[in-house]
Amino acid sequence: MTTVALKDVTKVFPDGTVAVDNVNLDVNDGEFMVLLGPSGCGKSTVLRMVAGLEDPTSGAILLDGELANDLPPRDRRIAMVFQDFALYPHMTVGDNIGFPLRLSGVEQGPRGERVADVASALGIGDVLARKPNQLSGGQRQRVAMGRAIVRRPGLFLMDEPLSNLDSGLRAELRAEISGLVRELGVSTIYVTHDQAEALTMADRVAILRRGVLQDVGTPTQVYGRPATLYVAAFLGSPRMNLLEASVYVHLDRYVALNFGEQALYLPWDDIRARAVAHYHGERIVVGMRAEALTPVAPGTPGDVLQGRIRYLEHHGHESLAFLDIGATAIVVDDIGGAVSEPTGGSGRFRRFGHVVQRLTGRGEPRESSTESSSNRTSVLSDPGRHHRRPAELAVRLAPYPAVSSGHPLAISVRMDALHFFDERGDRIDVGWR
Ligand SMILES: Nc1ncnc2c1ncn2[C@@H]1O[C@H](COP(=O)(O)OP(=O)(O)OP(=O)(O)O)[C@@H](O)[C@H]1O
Ligand SMILES: [Mg+2]
Repeated sequence: MTTVALKDVTKVFPDGTVAVDNVNLDVNDGEFMVLLGPSGCGKSTVLRMVAGLEDPTSGAILLDGELANDLPPRDRRIAMVFQDFALYPHMTVGDNIGFPLRLSGVEQGPRGERVADVASALGIGDVLARKPNQLSGGQRQRVAMGRAIVRRPGLFLMDEPLSNLDSGLRAELRAEISGLVRELGVSTIYVTHDQAEALTMADRVAILRRGVLQDVGTPTQVYGRPATLYVAAFLGSPRMNLLEASVYVHLDRYVALNFGEQALYLPWDDIRARAVAHYHGERIVVGMRAEALTPVAPGTPGDVLQGRIRYLEHHGHESLAFLDIGATAIVVDDIGGAVSEPTGGSGRFRRFGHVVQRLTGRGEPRESSTESSSNRTSVLSDPGRHHRRPAELAVRLAPYPAVSSGHPLAISVRMDALHFFDERGDRIDVGWR
């Protein structure tokens, strides 16, 4: 099946919009690659360039190792499935699926067989005689998939194919689609803005932000060792806790990470201590996912932070406690649905520019991107005018715990599960994975 390589691919639209910025990406034979990122980050543009529907401004697109920039779409052996797929309303399901075969002159007999095979693989074998308006949304999406599969393409391009479906059906079809394309062995590029979808379906995930590729790796790699603060904040639920820490090195003993009144200590023999020690006297961002935090009895020694519960969120199978630990949170912008409420400070983090802003608590949902960016500019240019408020550290508790807001809570921190980022939002690391 087809392999894809993007080499330094950039797309600038005539109005000056840089939709894709110097992207390098390889999709291996039979691989299920998910392109993940928020709305407007350039996902569809990448897909359309691979399909040949859009020309790159610069860079090369290789299919099976051959330069394909000038190859017409019909010669690329590609099938595309979109969010807003259209079925032919006057044709039966069978005719809809078989349509691409009819166009390429396949006889009725073999065509019928191929259609029946594909339909039964998709679980819609019993509705072949119906018209699209007699189907459920999920069945219609399967027909669209069937029409893409039937030609036996070398590459599937899927652009948010599930986003019009309700969440139950999405989860079901998610598993079906990834199972089916793996069975067929067809290389796939699947676009979504849903991080959970990406992590569950992908062989590898490529994360885009404002046209720039942030990280590529298996779900375990990008979740476990995010290359940038942005990727760290984008993946996982609840979102990773991102706290501002000032670094103090006590040579040969430990590196202290100070969060307001409290501190955590990286022992000097910890392999990451030396890398973090470069930031002596400076601030960094420390990331801790909820799974790195465990409530412990008050007075427990070790790597423990003390906090007070601000509020609880009950999710049925678990409850989340949001703790005030007297630290400052860093919130990353551009994450779908992210909230932000800027606070003041020394200004060191001003250089995070549009990557992050200093933050306090949960804030208000963003109203519009223009508004929030003008907000952001004023905050970054004049951080002192906002008061500081503590971060809220998300911690997992058993469902419906016997604690309530205001309750003190001690949290043990798994030091090996901490993530460190510099002020530009790049991972501080001992080496690359
Ligand atoms: N024909 C065009 N002319 C100018 N700008 C465009 C054009 N098509 C897309 N853009 C811009 O390019 C950027 C990337 O668009 P794209 O459609 O690739 O985003 P996306 O990641 O698919 O977003 P979504 O998740 O909302 O579908 C956006 O800023 C968009 O406004
Ligand atoms: Mg899109």
